[in-house]
Amino acid sequence: MTTPTPTQDQLKALVADAALAHVPSGQVIGVGTGSTVDLFIDALAAAVAAGRLQVPGAVSSSERSTRRLQGHGIAVVEAATVERLAVYVDGADEIDRHGHMIKGGGAALTREKIVADLAARFVCIADASKLVDVLGRFPLPVEAVAMAVPQLVRRFAALGGRAVPREGVLTDNGHPILDVHGLRIADPLAMETEINQWPGVLTVGIFARHRAQVCLLGTLQGVQTLVF
Ligand code: A5P
Repeated sequence: MTTPTPTQDQLKALVADAALAHVPSGQVIGVGTGSTVDLFIDALAAAVAAGRLQVPGAVSSSERSTRRLQGHGIAVVEAATVERLAVYVDGADEIDRHGHMIKGGGAALTREKIVADLAARFVCIADASKLVDVLGRFPLPVEAVAMAVPQLVRRFAALGGRAVPREGVLTDNGHPILDVHGLRIADPLAMETEINQWPGVLTVGIFARHRAQVCLLGTLQGVQTLVF
């Protein structure tokens, strides 16, 4: 009898569970956003309920994750009250073999980068479809001030990208998102640095300065741990 191939959701659940081993008991942690993180929050709550972990609170990167954490009775702590987090657990839209990521598919990139900046260690949880050699197949999300959007569209065109405003979406911070198609991000650090300089850019979804230190990758062979 052959074993059924795990679905993408099962691979996400696998890495969500595996991330618990990276959570220091008794400390406030940072929590990202997305479908993989939703499963991580559920796993975290189950571990707390079973007495396997103590989680005094979490700094959340979105209203979505805040609702899920609080729904499980996990206290949400304001980022402004925290100086340092031992660990931040989040997903990614793409990750390369150096831990650089594209993030923001769920429109939470600005708060994600803020919470990642507080953390000593970024643990990325992702199914194997997210691992790429070069970032850019996934359209690059950019949160921007609305009045800058037409100029940013022109700037991305000059880089060879087609920036499309994400229809009907405003972030938790009340700003529009551009999704930039067609970029090949060979040097993520340089491109993040360049785009960060453009007036009106709040956050570019390249996480190179805030890259992952560890990626738990859900593969057909099980969880693969990549250390960067
Ligand atoms: C949210 O804005 C994103 O950065 C997410 O971390 C990313 O989209 C991963 O989401 P999934 O876990 O749903 O694939």
